[in-house]
Amino acid sequence: MPEAFADYLSDNAREASINHLNVALATGIQLQLAIKQAHWNIKGPSFIGIHELLDDVYDRMGEHIDTIAERCVILGGTADGTVEAAQKDGKLAPYPADAVHQDTHIEELKKRMVQFAALVHDSLKEVGESGDEETADLFTGVSRDVSKDAWFIGAHHTSAKS
Ligand SMILES: [Fe+2]
Repeated sequence: MPEAFADYLSDNAREASINHLNVALATGIQLQLAIKQAHWNIKGPSFIGIHELLDDVYDRMGEHIDTIAERCVILGGTADGTVEAAQKDGKLAPYPADAVHQDTHIEELKKRMVQFAALVHDSLKEVGESGDEETADLFTGVSRDVSKDAWFIGAHHTSAKS
């Protein structure tokens, strides 16, 4: 294992965290690409608002992905951030390449963002139990922010009830 920069953790705790971080990294990359796919192809009466929102969400996902990848390396792991790794280890279903209407993109993105937040939430509990509270804290922030962006996107659905 490469050099680690967190002496306070056992090898087992670091290894567990690196595994969780790499699953989150792969899945986060899948989600970020899906957000851009929607940004480009979405059509509907709320086009410009959603189109611009998705650029902001894409940037925020990029920050999360960067923090997750860097934590892998800090713990002595390798950040597996290639497209191939994202396809192999990411947990999201393939994004529908033929999606056009805004409600379709909203539904598909919201579903994936909620799934990613849940995956990160489960990871934060497990890494916290193994003693890596710093990675648990990182995951807590990611889960909270992604849930908020799921709301920002989901609230645009035209069937939203009063
Ligand atoms: Fe753009």
